[in-house]
Amino acid sequence: MKRVLGIIGSPRKMGNCELTVKEIAARLPEASELSMVRLADKDIRPCKACYRCLMGDCPQVDDFGAVISAIVSADGVIVAAPVYLLGAHSSLQRFLDRGLQFWKHLDALAGKPAVGVALAGVRDGEGASLLGVENFMRGMGMEVKGRAVIHAALPGEVLLSEEGMAAAARLAGSLFAPGARQAPSPSCTRCGGTYFEFRGRDRVYCLLCGAGGTVAGEGEGVRIETVAPAHSWRGPDARKAHGEWLIGMKERYLRERDRLKEVSRPYAGGNFI
Ligand SMILES: Cc1cc2nc3c(=O)[nH]c(=O)nc-3n(C[C@H](O)[C@H](O)[C@H](O)COP(=O)(O)O)c2cc1C
Repeated sequence: MKRVLGIIGSPRKMGNCELTVKEIAARLPEASELSMVRLADKDIRPCKACYRCLMGDCPQVDDFGAVISAIVSADGVIVAAPVYLLGAHSSLQRFLDRGLQFWKHLDALAGKPAVGVALAGVRDGEGASLLGVENFMRGMGMEVKGRAVIHAALPGEVLLSEEGMAAAARLAGSLFAPGARQAPSPSCTRCGGTYFEFRGRDRVYCLLCGAGGTVAGEGEGVRIETVAPAHSWRGPDARKAHGEWLIGMKERYLRERDRLKEVSRPYAGGNFI
């Protein structure tokens, strides 16, 4: 029996995100048990940037620990978030902001199968939301087995949507399917991501992994070639190395603290509302 965790990034009960998670779970080909977390309702406090979690425990006492434990225990994860102002609901990023703590669970999270959906109320209203959903899954080191944008506005409308039901069937079929997901084309040759910033005539920057590269026309299509970013924390080895780098940065800060305080002193104060 597969343990599946549905992560719902919407405050709306029985809204399209909750229904999508339940529909995908119901269509899974393997026997599974679904539990859910309504992330938008959880008390997830902001990261204080104290870096204490690198050596010890996070000083925030809230629901983060319970949610990360549920994710760690799951065999697979379904994420669904509504689009708010062209981005994924902030509950996803709020959780991700606490991500220095993911390093404590590197092995348990690495390669965990996940699928993600962004629910948009209007055609072309999805903006950068799917990037937010995919970044949420990849930020934890999960393997993204599928993703979709579904358009549905009123609560329940997703169940009447052909697009929604087709996406649910496809994502259910891919969550535990063996083999890596085929990267869509054109995509980042480092991470398979499909979100880019264009930097000049033929330069691109991958918004999912930070790789830079080139874009060129090839036959009827387009070819993107990216090279490894200067600093990466994607992939199991890079994540471990990044954790060690962060600990080194903390030590560097302690060494350089006096000098940094000295140069910052003239900037102290100001009017804050
Ligand atoms: C504050 C707010 C902002 C929204 N912004 C967008 C948007 O930018 N683009 C869009 O397509 N839909 C937008 N919507 C619509 C929701 O994404 C859509 O209704 C979705 O199905 C909600 O999912 P839920 O029922 O699980 O809450 C917005 C809804 C709210 C409440």
